[in-house]
Amino acid sequence: MTDQTAVCRRLVGRTAVITGAGSGIGLATARRLAAEGANVVCADIDETAGKAAAEEVGGTFVQVDVTDAEQVEALYKTAFDTYGSVDVAFNNAGISPPDDDSILTTGLDAWKRVQEVNLTSVYLCCKHALPYMQRQFEQTGRGGSIINTASFVAVMGAATSQISYTASKGGVLAMSRELGVQFAREGIRVNALCPGPVNTPLLKELFAKDPERAARRLVHVPVGRFAEPEEIAAAVAFLASDDSSFVNAAEFLVDGGIAGAYVTPV
Ligand SMILES: NC(=O)c1ccc[n+]([C@@H]2O[C@H](COP(=O)([O-])OP(=O)(O)OC[C@H]3O[C@@H](n4cnc5c(N)ncnc54)[C@H](O)[C@@H]3O)[C@@H](O)[C@H]2O)c1
Repeated sequence: MTDQTAVCRRLVGRTAVITGAGSGIGLATARRLAAEGANVVCADIDETAGKAAAEEVGGTFVQVDVTDAEQVEALYKTAFDTYGSVDVAFNNAGISPPDDDSILTTGLDAWKRVQEVNLTSVYLCCKHALPYMQRQFEQTGRGGSIINTASFVAVMGAATSQISYTASKGGVLAMSRELGVQFAREGIRVNALCPGPVNTPLLKELFAKDPERAARRLVHVPVGRFAEPEEIAAAVAFLASDDSSFVNAAEFLVDGGIAGAYVTPV
């Protein structure tokens, strides 16, 4: 795994806005992008966690509910007003609540909430980040990089369904592809990051309580373990940087080989 003290400095002078920066993948990415030299704007609905993240990485905290159009618009304005550019948008905030389950038992309220937080939010974030990148491209010839967090469940079916979550991530994937194509000639790359299962506190707790549940999933992972958030953050740093200058409109799987597997090692 990446030694954070040995990371390269690919993002000096760039400004990165990260939603859901207070926890998990977002927090690991805030640390990584800051280590690579970026000005980091940590956006989260959770004031305590978001503030702590921003303080730790020497960035700026903006409290935002990513389902609120005005708050999202204000988020990118704050980033631009504070640092003078919006170069990277990592649209990552998302939820997977327990009442989103099989289609047969998931109610309309649960369905809609997950669609709002996981999919509508990405629409709003892209809508309000893009104009800054377009303007910058016109003025300087440098556009930007948008990375939207989808999931490996956007490309694979699971019998252990979370129906609205899966549908929302499929939407993120298709929207990212389309935006990547539409804005490619304006110097803006848009990619969908598709992580496999990540070793977050929630997942750890769940699987500690229910080892059978963990084993049922682990059998499908060729690598034989879940990802660490830092491994996902390293992929985001690559997609954010010019090292990925020809990677666009991609479904960028970081899944330990799950989506490529038929029979795994035992
Ligand atoms: N953890 C995994 O195994 C995994 C796998 C694939 C994809 N993902 C996706 O990665 C992203 C991050 O997941 P994570 O595991 O790091 O989650 P997490 O729960 O650790 O962090 C999510 C953050 O988003 C914030 N958030 C939630 N609702 C918000 C809202 N309305 N407005 C602003 N912020 C809000 C939370 O406060 C939290 O800080 C999500 O989109 C998730 O669907 C996670």
